[in-house]
Amino acid sequence: MEVDWAALRSAAREAMTHAYAPYSHFPVGAAALVDDGRVIVGCNVENASYGLGLCAECGLVSTLHATGGGRLVAVTCVGQDGSPLMPCGRCRQLLWENGGADCVLETPRGVLPMSEVLPDAFDSSDLAVSS
Ligand code: THU
Repeated sequence: MEVDWAALRSAAREAMTHAYAPYSHFPVGAAALVDDGRVIVGCNVENASYGLGLCAECGLVSTLHATGGGRLVAVTCVGQDGSPLMPCGRCRQLLWENGGADCVLETPRGVLPMSEVLPDAFDSSDLAVSS
């Protein structure tokens, strides 16, 4: 599936303007291409109880499911300067769960597959027990 990275980045930048980040002052926007062709976005939403803040990717994944599900094909996350930002560890796990090894992520060192962003990932296959 062809990925229009410029359009995805621009959607992420627009989403970033809706971030609620009064504590860190670090707004983040995320955008993804879904396997049915739709583009979805998310932004970070913080909380006075700091640890309860939601990363932009959390909103993205919630929107994925709320708007019909599917698999993430390509993802970009941007910070305030509009350039690609590496997702935190928890969010790499979220992206893996919803996009898998072949989902591609725009990073500061280029477009990388999730298999490189989260090597040796833990996932549902590890939950299978042999008896
Ligand atoms: N943040 C994200 O939204 N995504 C990430 O992958 C890294 C961090 C947010 C969380 C917090 O609101 C702010 O950036 C500063 O850590």
